Amino acid sequence: MDNFKVYNPTCLIFGKDVAQNIGKKALEFGSRVLLVYGKGSVLKNGAYAAVTESLKAQGITVTEYSGIKSNPVYEDVDAAAALAREVHADAVIAVGGGSVIDSAKVISLTAKANHSSWDFISDTRKPSASLPLLCVLTMAATGSEMNPYAVIQNDKTRQKIGYGHPLMYPRYSFLDPSYTLSVPYNYTSYGITDVIVHSLEAYFGKGDCDLSDRIATAIIKECMHKGQMLLSDLNNYDLRADIMLASTLGLNGTTFYGKSYGDWGVHNIGHELSLLYDIPHGASLSIALPSWLRLQASRIPDKINKLGKDLFDVSDVESTVNGFINFFKATGTPVKLSELTGAFNRAEILQQFTVNKVSGSCHTLSREDYEFLLDNML
Ligand code: NZQ
Ligand code: ZN
Repeated sequence: MDNFKVYNPTCLIFGKDVAQNIGKKALEFGSRVLLVYGKGSVLKNGAYAAVTESLKAQGITVTEYSGIKSNPVYEDVDAAAALAREVHADAVIAVGGGSVIDSAKVISLTAKANHSSWDFISDTRKPSASLPLLCVLTMAATGSEMNPYAVIQNDKTRQKIGYGHPLMYPRYSFLDPSYTLSVPYNYTSYGITDVIVHSLEAYFGKGDCDLSDRIATAIIKECMHKGQMLLSDLNNYDLRADIMLASTLGLNGTTFYGKSYGDWGVHNIGHELSLLYDIPHGASLSIALPSWLRLQASRIPDKINKLGKDLFDVSDVESTVNGFINFFKATGTPVKLSELTGAFNRAEILQQFTVNKVSGSCHTLSREDYEFLLDNML
């Protein structure tokens, strides 16, 4: 087992109607908030109404920044941070999925700075302060609601970078599964894939810890079992709650006990695909995972076979890969780029992987590996 540290200050509040208490919690930080959301789903699923009513009931002044796009960009973060400074916001409130929460995390840092958010993401400047962040999650997927990470995109430099800092832990996260009832079939499926792959990034990370590996596979089994039930019954509150809980546990640190760090190779491949072709995050992962596993077949066969035995009761790598492929096909998420519409250019992807040095932290990837991955993904 590797040495490890546990720190997670986020107060998670889970269940029906919990977001109605956000006003009281926000008041702990002051009477002016910046409310951040995406392209409008929260106006339809009740989350926006519950949050704004609760804030107004406490006399809190609300300034809004909306329009955050999926696979969010730093320009929105900079504009929202400038607005937060202008209105002297005391806190930032995110209502939405991972893209909104990630943006709000970096807005909370940038509001306290006098330069672009990209300086933080590209690691050229270090943050020293942040506005308190409160989140209302409307989509089960990223785990952003209880972790210190954000993934932000820069189309000019062609980078989508995952950034982490303890100042970005949300102070409060409100998780009402009711708000996820409106997530359509495809994004529900992408979210389930994301949770599975977060668990795998920990499983294939640095450090041997059987208990953490069993926690990771328990989360994957929950996603596969309850996820398939949910996809045939999208209005089922209890199944939405099960997947929401799995998504938080998938990336709030629980699966990393006994590990120094995760691998993140599959995510790093997926981020480049999302950047180039605006592919939803979960879909990029279901495309990347089978090829990554095949690439590792001769390098870490025992670790993959242990996974295959536990998840699918099989004892070789190819059957394990097929177990994942069958699940992804059954849940309608792609396993090849060719299943998506778009002109995918092999040379462009290869160039992108090379320039951004796509790799994992434990299982490094070479130029020859990129060729292998592309042979399998296209
Ligand atoms: O923009 P709106 O209108 O809100 O629509 C969103 C968006 O179109 C919609 N949606 C969200 N909640 C909904 C809903 N539609 C109907 N009903 C609801 N209740 O769903 C679409 C996708 O939303 P988005 O926030 O982009 O999805 P997700 O939560 O999967 O977040 C993806 C982003 O998170 C990053 C990804 O790279 C990607 O940029 N990640 C963040 C991580 C983290 N912070 O720890 C880790 C992850 O591995 C991931 O990389
Ligand atoms: Zn992810």
